[in-house]
Amino acid sequence: MVTGGAGFIGSHLTERLLDHGHEVLVVDNFYSSTRRNLTHLLDHPNFELMRHDVTFPLYVEVDEIYHLACPASPIFYQRDPVQTTKTSVHGSINMLGLAKRTKAKILLSSTSEIYGDPEVHPQTEDYWGNVNPIGIRSCYDEGKRCAETLFFDYRRQHDLDIKVARIFNTYGPRMQPDDGRVVSNFIVQALAGEPLTIYGDGGQTRSFCFVDDMVDALIALMGTPHEVTGPINVGNPVEFTMLELADLVIELTGSRSRVEHRSLPQDDPARRRPDISRAGELLGWEPRTALREGLERTIADFASQPVSGSGRRSG
Ligand SMILES: NC(=O)c1ccc[n+]([C@@H]2O[C@H](COP(=O)([O-])OP(=O)(O)OC[C@H]3O[C@@H](n4cnc5c(N)ncnc54)[C@H](O)[C@@H]3O)[C@@H](O)[C@H]2O)c1
Repeated sequence: MVTGGAGFIGSHLTERLLDHGHEVLVVDNFYSSTRRNLTHLLDHPNFELMRHDVTFPLYVEVDEIYHLACPASPIFYQRDPVQTTKTSVHGSINMLGLAKRTKAKILLSSTSEIYGDPEVHPQTEDYWGNVNPIGIRSCYDEGKRCAETLFFDYRRQHDLDIKVARIFNTYGPRMQPDDGRVVSNFIVQALAGEPLTIYGDGGQTRSFCFVDDMVDALIALMGTPHEVTGPINVGNPVEFTMLELADLVIELTGSRSRVEHRSLPQDDPARRRPDISRAGELLGWEPRTALREGLERTIADFASQPVSGSGRRSG
């Protein structure tokens, strides 16, 4: 079962699981996605799609749960912050309850946001983070932190087979053009010949992992033995500044766009870079797709779709 399977990462994961011969049940309420991401799979004999909000209990028979349901971009998760916290907290309680009843393995797609605006670089899993509990990003950051707490308490109390992945910025085809994340913003703006919006001076860095590499990591983590719980950082450790990313997108799209600076939003972290040594040791995993190659594939996907307007802020 993949909760949030109609979303960006979830739809790629679902596709891969079907390719591997699994039967896949996608559970999604389409809060930040549409059925479009799955249209090509609807007739697949091993595929089933269920509209359901994970904040309500679910009774199905499953043996592995990839729990991805949660809006991930600031525009979507800040639109209804109470629902975001509910999705992380009540959603995790419900899915953990389901895992307990069915004795299923369960994987949480946590996030690098649980490190907040980090004071150590790169971030290792042992770092506890620097998170504002009452800011506009808190519904997402604290929601995921509480979800991690619940996963580990279900492990300690009920010996559940849990896996916690801390996902760093991921990009690729099927990101939503209006989701406000920096890669999609830049591509949409460059393709439209509009200025690329940079918040602050553009010196803040992010690291970007191509979605195919992320799917490899999640499936490898699900395949680990009971004693491996995580949390495990998964992402690409190569850092780029926002200015470097903007230049690369302009080059690859052949756009005449320039960059435009705006003021930095609240709690926007200055740097974020994963230490992925644990993923290397435990999963034998590291990202393989260079940013240039991944961007080319993402730009090709965006260019093939009718797109209107531009995104609003970097994620
Ligand atoms: N994309 C990234 O860079 C990134 C980084 C860190 C963590 N993550 C995590 O990975 C997961 C997937 O992210 P994504 O980028 O694919 O985002 P996405 O918004 O494309 O996908 C999330 C999916 O969850 C669904 N959903 C939201 N609330 C729900 C609810 N209450 N019940 C059922 N379904 C619900 C949405 O409709 C959507 O299909 C999320 O948990 C996110 O926190 C993503």
